[in-house]
Amino acid sequence: MGFVSVLNFAQQLIQKRLQPGEIAIDATVGTGADTLFLARLAGARGRVYGFDIQQAALDRTRERLERAGESGGRDSRVESAAGEGEGGGGKNAEFKAGESEAFESGAGKSGAAESNADARASGKAEAYLGAARRGEAGSAKRKLHAREAGARLASVELLLRSHAEMAEALPAEHRGRVGAAMFNLGYLPGAEDLGVMTAPASTLPALEAALSLLRPKGILTAVLYPGHEGGGAEALAVERWAGALPVSEARVILYRQPQRPEAPYLLAVEKV
Ligand SMILES: C[S@@+](CC[C@H](N)C(=O)[O-])C[C@H]1O[C@@H](n2cnc3c(N)ncnc32)[C@H](O)[C@@H]1O
Repeated sequence: MGFVSVLNFAQQLIQKRLQPGEIAIDATVGTGADTLFLARLAGARGRVYGFDIQQAALDRTRERLERAGESGGRDSRVESAAGEGEGGGGKNAEFKAGESEAFESGAGKSGAAESNADARASGKAEAYLGAARRGEAGSAKRKLHAREAGARLASVELLLRSHAEMAEALPAEHRGRVGAAMFNLGYLPGAEDLGVMTAPASTLPALEAALSLLRPKGILTAVLYPGHEGGGAEALAVERWAGALPVSEARVILYRQPQRPEAPYLLAVEKV
């Protein structure tokens, strides 16, 4: 039996700590695998905030959440709310679930496997989601809400904002009450512009903010990619940041294969 992947190990650490009804953060939404994972764990009474600076990532994630709702065999609803200062207002629409195939959470899967899962969505859901997207084009201020109505998933707020702004983006009453925050650094798999990627200038303030938002015994995970350009420097910066945290405030671990220095690895921080 081999060791589990870094993505899988991150999820295992979170699964042991995040409780139903809690608040969680996906700091790098990407294709939404971790967003969905957190939404399932937090459950119907929980709340998940997802951050990404690319609209394409939020769109893919919203579709993923929708399909997950569908495969639950219940009625699902997407709420799309226009942000402050944006005209046109939000659109609400509903559709019946039941025609799409069951969706896997994608834990430990490659981007290609995730894309195959994406491609299996029913035509009905795709048609609905396409219409919803067309009705929402526009502002970077917009907040997208994908909420499961009466289902197992937490309500999810997808924010087109840098994770460096997460402390301001979350309601003040959530400070010190967040159970888990996940970071998966690097670039969006399959994106048109692979040059859009995380960078220390925003990653480090975001990690600091996430730590301040966590409750005692809450956990932060960061998957680091030393193998791509800029990824090594970012990984080192994150390690330095975490290594300098006082042990009275946080405990830090690494999950890494020393024989493969280029391979992705995991850093996890548990707040004391
Ligand atoms: C490796 S991907 C995340 C993968 C994702 N967890 C998944 O399951 O597919 C990294 C994501 O971080 C996003 N990103 C880059 N800079 C960011 C920032 N400052 N704030 C939030 N997201 C950012 C990218 O747009 C990209 O979608």
